[in-house]
Amino acid sequence: MRTQVCIIGGGPAGLFLAHVLHAAGIESIVIERQTKNHVLSRIRAGVLEAGTVDLLRQYGLAGRMDRDGMPKDGTRIFWEGKEDFWIDVIRWTGKRMMVWGQTQITEDLYAARERDGGEMIFEVENVALHDLDGAPSVTFERHGESQRIDCDFIAGCDGFHGPSRKAIPAEIRREYERVYPFGWLGIMVEKPPMKEIAYAYHSEGFAMASRRNPMLSRYYVQVPSTDKVEDWSDDRFWEALHRRLPEHAHGEIETGPSIEKSIAPLRSFVAEPMRWGKLFLAGDAAHIVPQTGAKGLNLAFSDVFYLSRALITHFRENSDRYLDSYSQMALRRVWAAENISWRMTKLLHVFPGEDPFDQKIRQNDFDLLAGSEDIQRAFAYEYIGLPFED
Ligand code: FAD
Ligand code: DHB
Repeated sequence: MRTQVCIIGGGPAGLFLAHVLHAAGIESIVIERQTKNHVLSRIRAGVLEAGTVDLLRQYGLAGRMDRDGMPKDGTRIFWEGKEDFWIDVIRWTGKRMMVWGQTQITEDLYAARERDGGEMIFEVENVALHDLDGAPSVTFERHGESQRIDCDFIAGCDGFHGPSRKAIPAEIRREYERVYPFGWLGIMVEKPPMKEIAYAYHSEGFAMASRRNPMLSRYYVQVPSTDKVEDWSDDRFWEALHRRLPEHAHGEIETGPSIEKSIAPLRSFVAEPMRWGKLFLAGDAAHIVPQTGAKGLNLAFSDVFYLSRALITHFRENSDRYLDSYSQMALRRVWAAENISWRMTKLLHVFPGEDPFDQKIRQNDFDLLAGSEDIQRAFAYEYIGLPFED
């Protein structure tokens, strides 16, 4: 087979790239390790930055989001022993976020690929990348048969565990990482959510109330990395959540049987550069953020914004100026997201082995935020996501 851009990975980064390239008349083939149903069964992110919302609208993917998504103007913070606090994101930035699930976005992206006749190959195995500094190709097996795609460029959109990042030679690749000793146990429950999305700091650990739609709530509690989902009955989860949220908010929590329960580890990770020869990385293939800042999915869209522009400029204008600056431009927003996600994680979680000094500094960080409009404005600037660069 031959195509202009071979896209490895059919998650949000790969599908959105294929969609934007198609709109510009550029051919691509998406290869995906799983089945479509498997990709669509994964419950992941839920909060979109204003910039991501704009991108979905610009590319005709916002119909359902604008009808069923829930606009979000700020975030509530519960802090043990303190008054509730509201980060007024719209006041400080003039921009509005949106609660709209990755699952629904991915459904709409698959529907668009199918409508547009975009080529997608599922259940690929043993994917390998070749000749990245010459005439690149990708080989793989499907149901025991070997196949090969020749292409002008490869987009590595294959998530944290995919082969693309590892195809950049070890002596070129630099990796930066923090692994946290805890994860988020998340449940989904078919009940109306609390009034607003809320983060909670409690001496027992972080907790969070989120949502997917007016009848679907998503809640999280911090758990040690060693915990297993089987350790957590629904009753145990609800008890922990109630202890960690203030009593005056308990009336807002509608409990019920969980319809999904999983533990997501927290990790900060960046690989640089995001380009090697004809290979370009986008999304989780190049970077991971802890969920606390709700940045992971937004960064995947941000990378695709820069990468699609670079590829379109190459094919339309025969200019590589954006391809050459891709890694540097994408990494500016990546590091800003890494920074706020890391600081929010430190602020809101209990770290094993912390001492009273750590706790005093955390309290002081919260008091500074709650007490200063300047700090709230600065926080909101980062939380909404940096502007895109020209
Ligand atoms: P992915 O969604 O990982 O897609 C990569 C695709 O590549 C996958 O479909 C995978 O099957 C495919 N692939 C892998 N290997 C190969 C291969 N060899 N060949 C072909 N295809 C391959 N972010 C938030 O903001 N909030 C959250 O609450 C949140 N929760 C998360 C929970 C979990 C368990 C995980 C893993 C992530 C979570 N994230 C969250 C992060 C967010 O979901 C990701 O940042 C987002 O999915 C990135 O999109 P992506 O397309 O880059 O990667
Ligand atoms: C979710 C929402 C957030 O605001 C966040 O920081 C992490 C996860 C969610 O709804 O899954």
